[in-house]
Amino acid sequence: TKTAIFISGRGSNMVALVEASKAADFPADFALVVSNDPTAAGLEWAASQGIDTLAVDHKTYGKDREAHERAIDAELRARGIEFICLAGYMRILTPWLVEQWSGKMINIHPSLLPKYKGLHTHERAIEAGDAEGGCSIHWVSPGVDDGDVIAQARVPILDGDTPDALAARVLKEEHKLYAATVRQILTKK
Ligand code: GRF
Repeated sequence: TKTAIFISGRGSNMVALVEASKAADFPADFALVVSNDPTAAGLEWAASQGIDTLAVDHKTYGKDREAHERAIDAELRARGIEFICLAGYMRILTPWLVEQWSGKMINIHPSLLPKYKGLHTHERAIEAGDAEGGCSIHWVSPGVDDGDVIAQARVPILDGDTPDALAARVLKEEHKLYAATVRQILTKK
């Protein structure tokens, strides 16, 4: 399945997905990495792997979010992309794009959804006194971090944990869970 990965930054989940896809039986072909930020570090890594990259700077489009996404969507169509993995893509998608890719776009979020949609998830979990944190893979729906959950991984929250320490613990699980979940979803198709 020809798949695009959307990033905005370092792209460690993207790296985990691409590394997993080197297995001969992996069902996704990561053919394109898209970023809204032309300076995203992950773009360089993708290019070094011989993967096509596409930077479409949202700033060029001002307040017209849909125009930005229509530009990206046109490129996805032109390249025959069939599935999208959002991996640290820090833009809220318009209902238009979500509708175009309904059932074909998943996201990873660093909390145990439905808890802590949005930002600062680890800080919020620690402040709430939760015993566990984690990450979720979900279908993308019009609400932010609101679609049906496909898979989750849990980690303990330790005494004296900082948001950074918890984030690092969760991130390791993100990398495993994302690859395993993409494998499962696309193998079934
Ligand atoms: C991850 O924690 C992901 O769950 C969240 O943003 C972070 C992206 O990290 N949506 P990376 O760019 O994949 O390293």
